[in-house]
Amino acid sequence: MTTHTTTKTHFGAEPHGGVLINGFAPANERGRFREEAGSLPKRELNAREASDVEMIAIGGYSPLAGFMGEADYRSVVHTMHLANGLPWTIPVTLSVDDNDTTKATPGSRIALAWEGEPIAVMSVEEQFTRDSLVEAEKVYRTTDEAHPGVAALYREHETLISGPIEVFGSLPNQTFPEHRLPPRETRRLFAEREWRTVVGFQTRNPVHRAHEYLQKCALEIVDGLLLHPLVGETKSDDIPADVRMRSYEVLLAKYYPPDRVLLAVNPAAMRYGGPREAIFHALIRKNFGCTHFIVGRDHAGVGNYYGPYDAQHIFLEFEPGSLGIQPLFFENSFYCKACGNMATQKTCPHGVEDRVSLSGTQVREMLRKGVLPPPEFSRAEVARVLSDAMREER
Ligand code: ADX
Repeated sequence: MTTHTTTKTHFGAEPHGGVLINGFAPANERGRFREEAGSLPKRELNAREASDVEMIAIGGYSPLAGFMGEADYRSVVHTMHLANGLPWTIPVTLSVDDNDTTKATPGSRIALAWEGEPIAVMSVEEQFTRDSLVEAEKVYRTTDEAHPGVAALYREHETLISGPIEVFGSLPNQTFPEHRLPPRETRRLFAEREWRTVVGFQTRNPVHRAHEYLQKCALEIVDGLLLHPLVGETKSDDIPADVRMRSYEVLLAKYYPPDRVLLAVNPAAMRYGGPREAIFHALIRKNFGCTHFIVGRDHAGVGNYYGPYDAQHIFLEFEPGSLGIQPLFFENSFYCKACGNMATQKTCPHGVEDRVSLSGTQVREMLRKGVLPPPEFSRAEVARVLSDAMREER
């Protein structure tokens, strides 16, 4: 008798919670949803909420199939886990006007709209009250309204509604269509390229030499790199997504092997939640199929709210293996003139006087004056895209 053993080949990670959510209404039922939505109370979405609707629909927030209910919300705020025990660090919520809550009562259905046009239907399951101050303190580690994530939270109402959503209309802000790849598509491409291990890189900045160093160090040990810039709402002084996308394209064209890198966008909005957002970013990339995730210095940080390595330390608060994605930690990286290469304190014995390090503010100042940052800081091609964009702005 012969026995056949089959080896199952896995490309990429399992989705968080095991199943990739699909929040789109079946194509043949969209007309019916549209008709129904026309007679439902409408809740107009802002850019951030529309990003969340897209993330839920494409499965980027799996296992969430809608906005969070009370048990999940409280559990996430206080314990960094969903009520069922799965790690999750950022509340995904939808609020309604505290003075007009009758249109979204449990058991009802409401239409979620963008610029007046309904795009999704939500089956309302619960209505409950958030505590914004507690949420700010726990999630952002500050109640300071100068923190952009806290400010966005304070702009919302205290009454939250929960329930699954079904998207039937066109999602707004579908920029960069060739790079707007949902998790099903990135997973398909990883399998097609036979990438068993893939490292995800979150960014809201142009890729400078420090970022490139991190990515390439990681790429030495995994099969592929998902360069996954966040293109949802960011603060007004961050570099606009279209300029960043141009900078990634020129960089990839010249300095990265095309068969090892996939450039796709993450439609989520930036929360600036530092440590908690680092876990959130990792789980999102797991849903896109990544097995590894880069966390460098002050990941998703803003101002001085977080220590430079807080976003790495938080990973130790989770049971080994419970996240289902391997973080790759990097120290502050820089170009060292004495070494003649990119390095970190772990690999370079020289002093700060040998380092080429520039802050974001210094770079903006140089570009504003028409001076390109040095090649040790930024590839000339990237610097040129940034300086052209500055010139167009003036
Ligand atoms: S973020 O807000 O999206 O995290 P950014 O685009 O600046 O900001 O950073 C992307 C990733 O690169 C993050 O993991 C961040 O920690 C890391 N990073 C950025 N600059 C450096 C640096 N000089 N040294 C080490 N890590 C860095």
